Amino acid sequence: MTNPIIALDNINVTFHQKKRKIRAVKNVSVHIEKGDVYGIVGYSGAGKSTLVRVINLLQEPTSGSVVVNNETFFKADSENSPKNRIATKDLRNRRRKIGMIFQHFNLLNERTVTENVAFALQHSSLSQAQKDAKVKELLELVDLSDRAEQYPSQLSGGQKQRVAIARALANDPEILISDEATSALDPKTTNQILALLKKLNSELGLTIVLITHEMQAVKEVANKVAVMQDGEIIERGSLLDIFAQPKEQLTKEFIETATNIDKAIETISAQSLVQQLSANEVFVRLSYVGDTTDEPLIASLFKEFNVTANILYGNIEVLQGTSVGSLLVILSGNAEQIKSASASLTSHHVKIDVLKGGQIL
Ligand SMILES: Nc1ncnc2c1ncn2[C@@H]1O[C@H](COP(=O)(O)OP(=O)(O)OP(=O)(O)O)[C@@H](O)[C@H]1O
Ligand SMILES: [Mg+2]
Repeated sequence: MTNPIIALDNINVTFHQKKRKIRAVKNVSVHIEKGDVYGIVGYSGAGKSTLVRVINLLQEPTSGSVVVNNETFFKADSENSPKNRIATKDLRNRRRKIGMIFQHFNLLNERTVTENVAFALQHSSLSQAQKDAKVKELLELVDLSDRAEQYPSQLSGGQKQRVAIARALANDPEILISDEATSALDPKTTNQILALLKKLNSELGLTIVLITHEMQAVKEVANKVAVMQDGEIIERGSLLDIFAQPKEQLTKEFIETATNIDKAIETISAQSLVQQLSANEVFVRLSYVGDTTDEPLIASLFKEFNVTANILYGNIEVLQGTSVGSLLVILSGNAEQIKSASASLTSHHVKIDVLKGGQIL
């Protein structure tokens, strides 16, 4: 394990509202490595925003420890123990190294694009000429040079978000927190913004914490994923592991929104081929990660076991350069042979889920 750039440990955030106690974040630990694009997904109210606001202490935790870049921002062992906090002046400086972007852009409407970005440099020690150059460079980076003198009201949602990104990058942050930054955008604009984030990650080495309720967005850019529910992280892992082997029901639901495999299963299951499955047939889902390509695999079933595979649906996603495939297939053949074929698939790291005709397997 290398040294995490963000280390949140045993974080609790409890809000007191009149007689009600809301435990928005419950004992969450999460370590984010430099260069990660760390996706945090969950439905509304799961505690995602509260958790990431803890990173720069916009939200002080009730207890836990917050260490960013090896510097302890906050530490309290329990709700009642003494609270150690970074000095306010230091915190202000450190916060500039943590950029944030939001769903509603939060631009200053009476200022131009240039002024909005320059605003983030008001406390910077750069000279005016350096500031001007910096703003120009940032607008080039987000491809908005031609809009420099326009006002937010003259821009599309995607352009506004790019202004917000330029502003968030003004002080050369090492970390960018994106809280539902694409949620108000259409799918095409969402993809453009995600592509920009990906570019910032790979070209500047920016560490990105990406909060969203859209698994599709996570799929495009993240290398790691955590799923939050009721203030807790219920599942986490590399993007590939989470997509290939989701364990929790909620994770499966989120993945379904990005792959539509359940929908495909429903549609294919209604077809007569599946409805009228014969005794020597079984309808299965094959899932695999990596090089196991469908064709040689399927061909070998026939060559080695005399089992034919009728592919009714196939979906291959390329995640982080690795393919993650799902095939809906009817296997037919002698029961013993199907069993052997199935064992062979399993030994090649292909996961088999029987969807119909389970008496054979
Ligand atoms: N300042 C606050 N005071 C009281 N309760 C709060 C406060 N901020 C958040 N909460 C509560 O904490 C819980 C988690 O809220 P949070 O905003 O972190 O969720 P979220 O996952 O970001 O949701 P969304 O997807 O809607 O943005 C919710 O029940 C919310 O009502
Ligand atoms: Mg939120």
